[in-house]
Amino acid sequence: MSAVSGRTTVVIGGASGIGWASAQLLAAEGATVVIADIDADQAAARAGELGGGARSVRVDVTDEESVRALFEGTASDLGSVDITLNCAGVNLPGMIVDLDAASWQRTLDLCLTGAFHVIKHSARVMGAGAAITSITSLNARQPAAGFAGYCAAKAGLAMLTQVAALELGEKGIRVNAISPGLVETPLVTGLTSVPVIQDDFTDNTPLGRNGQPSDVAQAVLYLSSDASSWVTGEVLDINGGAHLRRYPDVMKHLATLSG
Ligand SMILES: NC(=O)c1ccc[n+]([C@@H]2O[C@H](COP(=O)([O-])OP(=O)(O)OC[C@H]3O[C@@H](n4cnc5c(N)ncnc54)[C@H](O)[C@@H]3O)[C@@H](O)[C@H]2O)c1
Repeated sequence: MSAVSGRTTVVIGGASGIGWASAQLLAAEGATVVIADIDADQAAARAGELGGGARSVRVDVTDEESVRALFEGTASDLGSVDITLNCAGVNLPGMIVDLDAASWQRTLDLCLTGAFHVIKHSARVMGAGAAITSITSLNARQPAAGFAGYCAAKAGLAMLTQVAALELGEKGIRVNAISPGLVETPLVTGLTSVPVIQDDFTDNTPLGRNGQPSDVAQAVLYLSSDASSWVTGEVLDINGGAHLRRYPDVMKHLATLSG
Protein backbone atom coordinates (compact mmCIF):
# COMPACT_ATOMS: atom_id res chain seq x y z
CA MET A 1 0.00 0.00 0.00
CA SER A 2 1.37 3.42 -0.91
CA ALA A 3 2.07 6.17 1.62
CA VAL A 4 -0.94 8.26 0.56
CA SER A 5 -3.38 5.44 -0.03
CA GLY A 6 -6.90 6.28 1.14
CA ARG A 7 -6.00 9.81 2.20
CA THR A 8 -8.42 12.60 1.39
CA THR A 9 -6.52 15.10 -0.73
CA VAL A 10 -7.62 18.59 -1.80
CA VAL A 11 -5.77 19.97 -4.83
CA ILE A 12 -6.47 23.67 -5.31
CA GLY A 13 -5.73 24.76 -8.86
CA GLY A 14 -6.00 21.06 -9.69
CA ALA A 15 -7.63 21.59 -13.08
CA SER A 16 -4.38 22.54 -14.88
CA GLY A 17 -0.60 22.39 -14.93
CA ILE A 18 1.28 21.46 -11.76
CA GLY A 19 -1.92 20.86 -9.80
CA TRP A 20 -3.33 18.49 -12.40
CA ALA A 21 -0.08 16.50 -12.69
CA SER A 22 0.06 16.22 -8.90
CA ALA A 23 -3.60 15.18 -8.68
CA GLN A 24 -2.96 12.42 -11.21
CA LEU A 25 0.09 11.12 -9.34
CA LEU A 26 -1.60 11.25 -5.92
CA ALA A 27 -4.69 9.49 -7.31
CA ALA A 28 -2.49 6.83 -8.92
CA GLU A 29 -0.93 6.28 -5.48
CA GLY A 30 -4.40 5.66 -4.02
CA ALA A 31 -5.36 9.05 -2.58
CA THR A 32 -9.00 10.19 -2.78
CA VAL A 33 -8.67 13.44 -4.73
CA VAL A 34 -10.86 16.55 -4.69
CA ILE A 35 -10.07 18.83 -7.64
CA ALA A 36 -10.81 22.36 -6.39
CA ASP A 37 -10.47 25.16 -8.90
CA ILE A 38 -12.05 28.44 -9.96
CA ASP A 39 -12.69 26.81 -13.35
CA ALA A 40 -15.60 24.56 -12.34
CA ASP A 41 -16.10 22.96 -15.76
CA GLN A 42 -12.46 22.00 -16.17
CA ALA A 43 -12.31 20.76 -12.57
CA ALA A 44 -15.34 18.52 -13.17
CA ALA A 45 -13.79 17.19 -16.38
CA ARG A 46 -10.52 16.41 -14.57
CA ALA A 47 -12.33 14.62 -11.74
CA GLY A 48 -14.16 12.60 -14.39
CA GLU A 49 -10.81 11.66 -15.97
CA LEU A 50 -9.49 10.46 -12.61
CA GLY A 51 -12.62 8.42 -11.93
CA GLY A 52 -12.86 6.34 -8.76
CA GLY A 53 -13.81 8.49 -5.79
CA ALA A 54 -12.52 11.74 -7.31
CA ARG A 55 -14.80 14.77 -7.11
CA SER A 56 -14.64 18.45 -7.99
CA VAL A 57 -15.53 21.66 -6.18
CA ARG A 58 -15.47 25.25 -7.41
CA VAL A 59 -13.35 27.47 -5.19
CA ASP A 60 -11.90 30.96 -5.43
CA VAL A 61 -8.94 31.24 -3.07
CA THR A 62 -9.37 35.03 -2.86
CA ASP A 63 -12.81 34.49 -1.28
CA GLU A 64 -12.33 33.26 2.29
CA GLU A 65 -15.90 32.00 2.59
CA SER A 66 -15.46 29.85 -0.49
CA VAL A 67 -12.27 28.32 0.95
CA ARG A 68 -13.92 27.70 4.33
CA ALA A 69 -16.85 25.97 2.64
CA LEU A 70 -14.49 23.79 0.58
CA PHE A 71 -12.63 22.43 3.60
CA GLU A 72 -15.58 22.11 5.97
CA GLY A 73 -17.66 20.49 3.23
CA THR A 74 -14.92 18.03 2.29
CA ALA A 75 -14.24 17.05 5.91
CA SER A 76 -17.95 16.59 6.51
CA ASP A 77 -18.55 14.55 3.33
CA LEU A 78 -15.37 12.45 3.34
CA GLY A 79 -14.56 12.27 7.05
CA SER A 80 -11.25 14.16 7.01
CA VAL A 81 -8.81 16.24 4.99
CA ASP A 82 -5.37 14.65 5.17
CA ILE A 83 -3.45 16.35 2.34
CA THR A 84 -3.78 19.83 0.85
CA LEU A 85 -1.91 21.13 -2.17
CA ASN A 86 -2.29 24.81 -3.05
CA CYS A 87 -1.40 25.62 -6.66
CA ALA A 88 -3.49 28.71 -7.40
CA GLY A 89 -1.36 31.61 -8.62
CA VAL A 90 -1.09 34.41 -11.15
CA ASN A 91 1.59 36.83 -12.36
CA LEU A 92 0.48 40.25 -13.64
CA PRO A 93 3.78 41.80 -14.71
CA GLY A 94 4.80 45.43 -15.06
CA MET A 95 7.70 47.67 -14.06
CA ILE A 96 7.04 49.25 -10.65
CA VAL A 97 6.81 52.80 -11.98
CA ASP A 98 4.12 51.68 -14.45
CA LEU A 99 2.39 48.95 -12.44
CA ASP A 100 -1.21 49.78 -11.53
CA ALA A 101 -2.24 49.15 -7.95
CA ALA A 102 -5.03 46.80 -9.02
CA SER A 103 -2.58 44.41 -10.73
CA TRP A 104 -0.27 44.52 -7.72
CA GLN A 105 -3.21 43.84 -5.38
CA ARG A 106 -4.65 41.03 -7.53
CA THR A 107 -1.31 39.19 -7.55
CA LEU A 108 -0.98 39.49 -3.78
CA ASP A 109 -4.61 38.49 -3.23
CA LEU A 110 -4.25 35.33 -5.27
CA CYS A 111 -0.71 34.21 -4.45
CA LEU A 112 -0.42 35.25 -0.80
CA THR A 113 -3.77 36.03 0.82
CA GLY A 114 -5.30 33.07 -1.04
CA ALA A 115 -2.62 30.81 0.42
CA PHE A 116 -3.35 32.20 3.89
CA HIS A 117 -7.04 31.30 3.46
CA VAL A 118 -6.08 27.80 2.30
CA ILE A 119 -3.64 27.10 5.14
CA LYS A 120 -6.02 28.55 7.75
CA HIS A 121 -9.14 26.61 6.77
CA SER A 122 -7.27 23.46 5.83
CA ALA A 123 -5.52 23.32 9.20
CA ARG A 124 -8.80 23.86 11.07
CA VAL A 125 -10.20 20.56 9.80
CA MET A 126 -6.95 18.57 9.83
CA GLY A 127 -5.54 16.25 12.46
CA ALA A 128 -2.15 14.77 13.30
CA GLY A 129 -0.30 13.33 10.30
CA ALA A 130 -1.80 15.79 7.82
CA ALA A 131 0.31 17.74 5.33
CA ILE A 132 -0.15 21.08 3.56
CA THR A 133 2.04 21.99 0.58
CA SER A 134 1.99 25.30 -1.32
CA ILE A 135 3.58 26.09 -4.65
CA THR A 136 5.69 29.21 -4.35
CA SER A 137 8.33 30.03 -6.99
CA LEU A 138 11.99 30.50 -7.85
CA ASN A 139 10.94 34.17 -7.64
CA ALA A 140 10.54 33.76 -3.89
CA ARG A 141 14.34 34.00 -3.74
CA GLN A 142 15.37 35.35 -7.15
CA PRO A 143 14.21 38.88 -8.07
CA ALA A 144 12.94 39.48 -11.60
CA ALA A 145 12.50 42.94 -13.11
CA GLY A 146 8.83 43.47 -13.93
CA PHE A 147 7.60 40.82 -11.48
CA ALA A 148 7.33 42.96 -8.31
CA GLY A 149 3.94 41.70 -7.15
CA TYR A 150 4.73 38.08 -7.96
CA CYS A 151 8.19 38.12 -6.31
CA ALA A 152 6.85 39.84 -3.20
CA ALA A 153 3.86 37.49 -2.93
CA LYS A 154 5.90 34.33 -3.46
CA ALA A 155 8.58 35.43 -0.97
CA GLY A 156 5.73 36.14 1.45
CA LEU A 157 4.33 32.67 0.83
CA ALA A 158 7.71 31.10 1.64
CA MET A 159 7.72 32.90 5.00
CA LEU A 160 4.01 32.18 5.61
CA THR A 161 4.84 28.50 5.14
CA GLN A 162 7.51 28.65 7.83
CA VAL A 163 5.30 30.49 10.32
CA ALA A 164 2.47 28.00 9.70
CA ALA A 165 4.87 25.08 10.23
CA LEU A 166 5.94 26.63 13.53
CA GLU A 167 2.35 27.12 14.71
CA LEU A 168 0.91 23.81 13.48
CA GLY A 169 3.75 21.49 14.49
CA GLU A 170 2.23 20.79 17.89
CA LYS A 171 -0.95 19.57 16.15
CA GLY A 172 1.16 17.17 14.06
CA ILE A 173 0.37 19.06 10.84
CA ARG A 174 3.32 19.57 8.49
CA VAL A 175 3.50 22.65 6.24
CA ASN A 176 5.94 22.88 3.34
CA ALA A 177 6.37 24.63 0.00
CA ILE A 178 7.95 23.95 -3.36
CA SER A 179 9.68 26.65 -5.41
CA PRO A 180 9.64 25.60 -9.06
CA GLY A 181 11.65 27.21 -11.82
CA LEU A 182 10.17 27.45 -15.33
CA VAL A 183 7.67 24.59 -15.72
CA GLU A 184 5.85 24.04 -19.01
CA THR A 185 2.20 24.85 -18.21
CA PRO A 186 -0.40 27.20 -19.71
CA LEU A 187 0.71 29.86 -17.18
CA VAL A 188 4.06 30.43 -18.90
CA THR A 189 3.41 29.99 -22.64
CA GLY A 190 4.04 33.75 -22.96
CA LEU A 191 7.66 32.99 -21.92
CA THR A 192 8.35 29.61 -23.50
CA SER A 193 6.90 30.67 -26.88
CA VAL A 194 9.44 33.49 -27.32
CA PRO A 195 12.74 31.88 -28.46
CA VAL A 196 15.09 34.52 -27.03
CA ILE A 197 13.38 34.29 -23.62
CA GLN A 198 13.31 30.51 -23.71
CA ASP A 199 17.04 30.44 -24.61
CA ASP A 200 17.85 32.74 -21.67
CA PHE A 201 15.99 30.42 -19.28
CA THR A 202 17.84 27.41 -20.69
CA ASP A 203 21.23 29.18 -20.43
CA ASN A 204 20.49 29.99 -16.80
CA THR A 205 19.48 26.43 -15.86
CA PRO A 206 22.46 24.13 -15.17
CA LEU A 207 20.46 21.03 -16.13
CA GLY A 208 19.62 22.77 -19.43
CA ARG A 209 15.89 22.17 -19.74
CA ASN A 210 12.51 23.41 -18.57
CA GLY A 211 10.64 21.56 -15.86
CA GLN A 212 7.63 19.40 -16.57
CA PRO A 213 4.61 19.37 -14.22
CA SER A 214 5.52 15.76 -13.36
CA ASP A 215 8.92 16.93 -12.00
CA VAL A 216 7.07 18.98 -9.40
CA ALA A 217 4.42 16.32 -8.77
CA GLN A 218 7.10 13.89 -7.55
CA ALA A 219 8.12 16.41 -4.87
CA VAL A 220 4.47 17.00 -3.97
CA LEU A 221 4.03 13.27 -3.42
CA TYR A 222 7.09 13.17 -1.15
CA LEU A 223 6.03 16.18 0.94
CA SER A 224 2.44 14.89 1.19
CA SER A 225 3.34 11.40 2.34
CA ASP A 226 4.82 9.87 5.48
CA ALA A 227 8.12 9.54 3.58
CA SER A 228 8.66 13.15 4.73
CA SER A 229 7.18 12.71 8.22
CA TRP A 230 10.03 14.69 9.85
CA VAL A 231 10.04 17.50 7.27
CA THR A 232 8.21 20.75 7.99
CA GLY A 233 8.82 24.43 7.24
CA GLU A 234 10.86 23.41 4.17
CA VAL A 235 10.83 25.49 0.95
CA LEU A 236 12.18 23.10 -1.66
CA ASP A 237 13.85 24.30 -4.87
CA ILE A 238 12.85 22.24 -7.92
CA ASN A 239 14.38 24.13 -10.84
CA GLY A 240 17.20 22.27 -12.59
CA GLY A 241 19.68 24.36 -10.58
CA ALA A 242 18.36 27.71 -11.85
CA HIS A 243 18.65 29.24 -8.37
CA LEU A 244 22.43 29.00 -8.81
CA ARG A 245 22.45 31.44 -11.73
CA ARG A 246 20.35 34.54 -12.49
CA TYR A 247 16.74 35.14 -13.50
CA PRO A 248 16.36 36.15 -17.18
CA ASP A 249 15.53 39.81 -17.88
CA VAL A 250 12.17 39.02 -19.48
CA MET A 251 11.04 42.66 -19.71
CA LYS A 252 14.24 43.72 -21.51
CA HIS A 253 13.77 40.92 -24.06
CA LEU A 254 10.16 41.99 -24.64
CA ALA A 255 11.16 45.65 -25.02
CA THR A 256 13.85 44.72 -27.58
CA LEU A 257 11.41 42.60 -29.56
CA SER A 258 8.76 45.32 -29.64
CA GLY A 259 11.41 47.77 -30.97
N1 LIG B 1 4.60 27.14 -14.48
C1 LIG B 1 5.67 27.70 -13.92
O1 LIG B 1 6.71 27.91 -14.57
C2 LIG B 1 5.66 28.04 -12.46
C3 LIG B 1 6.88 28.36 -11.86
C4 LIG B 1 6.91 28.69 -10.51
C5 LIG B 1 5.75 28.70 -9.78
N2 LIG B 1 4.57 28.39 -10.38
C6 LIG B 1 3.37 28.41 -9.56
O2 LIG B 1 2.75 27.15 -9.62
C7 LIG B 1 1.35 27.30 -9.39
C8 LIG B 1 0.59 26.54 -10.48
O3 LIG B 1 0.89 27.13 -11.72
P1 LIG B 1 0.72 26.38 -13.12
O4 LIG B 1 1.90 26.75 -13.92
O5 LIG B 1 0.36 24.96 -12.91
O6 LIG B 1 -0.53 27.23 -13.70
P2 LIG B 1 -1.86 26.82 -14.46
O7 LIG B 1 -2.38 28.09 -15.00
O8 LIG B 1 -1.62 25.67 -15.39
O9 LIG B 1 -2.82 26.29 -13.28
C9 LIG B 1 -3.30 27.17 -12.30
C10 LIG B 1 -4.68 26.71 -11.88
O10 LIG B 1 -5.12 27.57 -10.82
C11 LIG B 1 -6.49 27.88 -11.04
N3 LIG B 1 -6.84 29.14 -10.39
C12 LIG B 1 -6.54 30.40 -10.83
N4 LIG B 1 -7.07 31.31 -10.01
C13 LIG B 1 -7.70 30.63 -9.02
C14 LIG B 1 -8.44 31.04 -7.89
N5 LIG B 1 -8.64 32.34 -7.61
N6 LIG B 1 -8.94 30.08 -7.06
C15 LIG B 1 -8.76 28.75 -7.36
N7 LIG B 1 -8.08 28.33 -8.45
C16 LIG B 1 -7.56 29.24 -9.27
C17 LIG B 1 -6.61 27.96 -12.56
O11 LIG B 1 -7.96 27.85 -13.00
C18 LIG B 1 -5.74 26.81 -13.00
O12 LIG B 1 -6.45 25.59 -13.10
C19 LIG B 1 1.08 28.80 -9.35
O13 LIG B 1 1.02 29.23 -8.02
C20 LIG B 1 2.30 29.40 -10.02
O14 LIG B 1 2.57 30.70 -9.56
C21 LIG B 1 4.48 28.05 -11.70
